Amino acid sequence: MIEVTDLHKHFGGFHAVDGATLKIEERSITGLIGPNGAGKTTLFNVIAGVLPPTRGRVTMAGEDITGLPPHELFHKGLLRTFQIAHEFSSMTCRENLMMVPGGQSGERLWNTWFGRKRIADEERALRAKADEVLEFLTVSHLAEQRAGEISGGQKKLLELGRTMMVDAKIVFLDEVGAGVNRTLLNTIGDAIMRLNKERNYTFVVIEHDMDFIGKISDHVICMAEGKVLAEGSLAEIKANEQVIEAYLGTGLKNAEATA
Ligand SMILES: Nc1ncnc2c1ncn2[C@@H]1O[C@H](COP(=O)(O)OP(=O)(O)OP(=O)(O)O)[C@@H](O)[C@H]1O
Ligand SMILES: [Mg+2]
Repeated sequence: MIEVTDLHKHFGGFHAVDGATLKIEERSITGLIGPNGAGKTTLFNVIAGVLPPTRGRVTMAGEDITGLPPHELFHKGLLRTFQIAHEFSSMTCRENLMMVPGGQSGERLWNTWFGRKRIADEERALRAKADEVLEFLTVSHLAEQRAGEISGGQKKLLELGRTMMVDAKIVFLDEVGAGVNRTLLNTIGDAIMRLNKERNYTFVVIEHDMDFIGKISDHVICMAEGKVLAEGSLAEIKANEQVIEAYLGTGLKNAEATA
């Protein structure tokens, strides 16, 4: 579904992404791992149109999407979440979700969704959609809570919820489990797997928690120093000499413990 070919992102003389080549299969859940500073977030930013690549190519279903701005990718169903949650803290969780289609997708998607219905109808539909998303994520009780007052883990869940307000095809999740407690992490993992199975979402998930990666992903890609170091099952990755070496100093074990 996504093909990245020899992608580079340089910051001055520093090669944050340094010739990454990879494929994301449709309807897969791909885990993207690698030590701190490996270039994972930068890779996401380039794919999602937040940063222009220095060179290289990204295609989606065969179409060249290299360097397209985020809102155009959004129309194509390519969405991302952020390593640090972006919420409107004084608005409720429901309102945060209701913001998504109008705020990010612009007129076209709005019109497709609602046709010529009146604004009141649109708002009612949005509200119903937001409540459906909250229910899917098993956090209906947060609907009226201000987003600034919920826990870090719940904010991550809200970020995932935002991707459900539109018909996403592929979602890039950056450290969705960071700072999240076990129970909430399971909720997030279950939501990802259900969205994948029931709604055909494709996911690429950056995460340091190897248990989480092992549980949800069917393919794992390991980056180091801006390049793809290895790919395969998590067991294969963990046994890979180069991967073990790349994690020296931090250690794969450490990555599990700190996640
Ligand atoms: N805007 C920028 N300007 C200069 N250097 C940057 C910029 N963004 C990222 N870098 C550098 O690029 C490298 C890769 O960073 P990136 O955030 O992509 O790593 P990461 O794999 O996501 O790490 P982590 O697991 O810690 O989130 C790092 O050394 C970082 O300091
Ligand atoms: Mg990162």
